[in-house]
Amino acid sequence: MLGNSVDRYGIVSRAIHWLTALFILTLIGVGMYMSDLDKTDPNRMAIYNAHKAFGILIIVLLLARLIWLRIHPAPGLPAILSAAELKLFKVVKAGLYLLMFLVPLAGYTMSVAGGHPVSVFGWFTLPSLFEKSKTLGGFAHEMHGVLAYTLLALVVLHLAGTVKHRLKGNAEADLLKRML
Ligand code: HEM
Repeated sequence: MLGNSVDRYGIVSRAIHWLTALFILTLIGVGMYMSDLDKTDPNRMAIYNAHKAFGILIIVLLLARLIWLRIHPAPGLPAILSAAELKLFKVVKAGLYLLMFLVPLAGYTMSVAGGHPVSVFGWFTLPSLFEKSKTLGGFAHEMHGVLAYTLLALVVLHLAGTVKHRLKGNAEADLLKRML
């Protein structure tokens, strides 16, 4: 099943979801690792470039997800969830969407304002939308870190919510099942 049904995600939504999760967690790990790398490390440039290109892919996956959801709406949420659970689910989801856009945007801004145009896997270089600026670069750098760790916190909350329902053994509220 390519598209989503009333109670299950189809293969495209599932692929986008798990690829995004994999990339985000890897990007956070690699981001932490590379920012501590010695400037003379011979692999530093390649790691930075890969981090940037996969980071840009997060925005591409976000756009693909939004377009696909317009064509194939997501399955409805189980009626069994309490009002408080529904609210939390929606707030976390909105936060995840916002940060999947803002974290790469801050990364892009930091690089461009730092005078480093962003190449995507060496295939092409993104247009540089900002002038070189120490102030903007420093601000975007700060934001990139803060927002990336906020994103990690939301991913953990999102996971905890789904695992909680799974462990409760309540099939109707098992949101993980329909994404697997
Ligand atoms: C969802 C996508 C992304 C995630 C989750 C992510 C995550 C991170 C994290 C956790 C760090 C370490 C921050 C710190 O400890 O201070 C980092 C560093 C960095 N990121 Fe990203 N990143 C993403 C996308 C991007 C993009 C699109 C770019 C540029 C085009 C980028 C450029 C950088 C750079 C240059 C650093 C190193 C900063 C330094 O040397 O201190 N990131 N990233």
